[in-house]
Amino acid sequence: MALSNTTTTFIFFLLLLFVSANTHLHQSNGESSISVLISQKGLDFVKDILLNQVISSLTPLELPNIQKSVKIPFIGNVKVLLSNITINQIEVSSSYIKLGDSGVEILASGATVNLSMNWYYSYSTWILVPVHISDKGTASIQVQGMEVGLTLGLEDQEGTLKLFLKEYGCNLKSITIKLDGGASWFYQGLVDAFQGQIRSVVETSISKKTKEGILRLDSLLQTLPKEIQVDDIASLNVTIVNEPLLGDSSIGIEINGLFVAGNQVLAPNYDHIYMNGQPLAACEGSSKMIGISLDEAVFSSCSDVYFNAGVMQWVVDKVPDQSLLNTAGWKYVVPQLYRKYPNDDIKLNISFSSSPVIKILENKIDATVYSDMVIDVVDANEVIPVACISVVISASGSVEISGNMLVGSVVLDDFTLSLKWSKIGKFHMTLIQSVMWSFLKTVATPYVNSRLRKGFPLPIVRGFTLQNADILYKNSLLAVCSDVVFTDSML
Ligand SMILES: *[C@@H]1O[C@H](CO)[C@@H](O)[C@H](O)[C@H]1NC(C)=O
Ligand SMILES: *[C@@H]1O[C@H](CO)[C@@H](O)[C@H](O)[C@H]1NC(C)=O
Ligand SMILES: *[C@@H]1O[C@H](CO)[C@@H](O)[C@H](O)[C@H]1NC(C)=O
Ligand SMILES: *[C@@H]1O[C@H](CO)[C@@H](O)[C@H](O)[C@H]1NC(C)=O
Repeated sequence: MALSNTTTTFIFFLLLLFVSANTHLHQSNGESSISVLISQKGLDFVKDILLNQVISSLTPLELPNIQKSVKIPFIGNVKVLLSNITINQIEVSSSYIKLGDSGVEILASGATVNLSMNWYYSYSTWILVPVHISDKGTASIQVQGMEVGLTLGLEDQEGTLKLFLKEYGCNLKSITIKLDGGASWFYQGLVDAFQGQIRSVVETSISKKTKEGILRLDSLLQTLPKEIQVDDIASLNVTIVNEPLLGDSSIGIEINGLFVAGNQVLAPNYDHIYMNGQPLAACEGSSKMIGISLDEAVFSSCSDVYFNAGVMQWVVDKVPDQSLLNTAGWKYVVPQLYRKYPNDDIKLNISFSSSPVIKILENKIDATVYSDMVIDVVDANEVIPVACISVVISASGSVEISGNMLVGSVVLDDFTLSLKWSKIGKFHMTLIQSVMWSFLKTVATPYVNSRLRKGFPLPIVRGFTLQNADILYKNSLLAVCSDVVFTDSML
């Protein structure tokens, strides 16, 4: 079968969805039709990734040298240089993330930091003549009971998420220095004189790296698109609307979520699209990391965009049972057609007569397609429209997750036929019912399903992939409750 100007995956998504034009509902001001809820489990997951990223950016890390002159009893002024101070390892024994009034709080505590360094000292003394004495060696340093706490603010900044550091604190409980070699007076001097400095160098670098990590995470969020292009006809508007909602144990993010035509100059008119609300609660009670809710409006807007683009048109000139596309195959059902155009090829020109809309019901998706099918006879290379049948198709749809795409499939439930006009006289629709059934079942449905399998993108941050998703159909709402895995380096 040939497809007329169909570049898109999504046209046929629409076949899923149908509601007649007069059931289009009034406007609401709830501008969000997709919402994403990150549960406590999801937050914990993100926190662990963040922590790992920060730790791996810190190890190994060379800290600035420390140099100073220390006064040692009986010896005098000793010049000391600590160099190659390197953080080798960090272990965090416990950490949590929680949502508070002021933002997202992350605390890592009981952390152990292992460092190594080179030490060198020199001084001059008098034994009858001035003598220059120096020594060097290595030392290992262990920091225990380190605590790093931070509070992050999260807000909507012109449609993208802005993440920023609101509070930061770092505290080291104890520092142990172990010298390989060196005199005992030096050891005590080192501990007394340098402990504070080592502590502050460690604190400064950890805080610097953590802040850098937050900035990088923020710039990652800034690069999230406001639109995901689906094909040359449509994009999904993923602009964030409203401030993120910080609950006790979840963050809710609301996204415009409607389809818009590509190269759109004017903002589309969604007056008739109604959002049903309560989407954030859709995955309540689920033990998954995130919940993505799609309002029926998402599907209606998708259907509108493709319908308005004029691409919902389909010329069928090849089918598995090609005899269906010859007047000879209609000999017994529409004899006058065969008599007028014996053994001529037939093309079916199917177009949607109104924009289809999906209805999401409890436990399933209902779709109704209103289409017109023009029967064209090809007689000596001339295409002659001979009749037009209005076909109303009801189908049930279901979706599943493949990667980060929502893919669909439909099953034909029922259809009705009525003759709109005819140049070959009246003929009984009941006669062509079985021809139509066979066509819809063996040609149209598999075709639609092969398109639907290509899917439609869900707004997921790069690097994350959905896993073990559950799909829930709730009255007017489709919810994807899922865990995610991290497959990429984010920072
Ligand atoms: C600096 O410290 C690192 C890590 O302990 C070590 O591998 C390296 O050899 C040291 N460099 C010098 C010049 O001592
Ligand atoms: C850190 O250093 C301490 C003392 O040198 C050592 O006992 C411990 O095993 C080290 N930890 C790691 C993770 O290397
Ligand atoms: C996308 O959504 C935002 C927020 O609702 C809206 O302001 C903007 O006009 C939308 N873009 C298009 C092209 O419709
Ligand atoms: C199919 O039918 C529509 C109207 O129903 C018409 O605009 C279009 O030109 C026809 N296409 C072909 C290829 O016949």
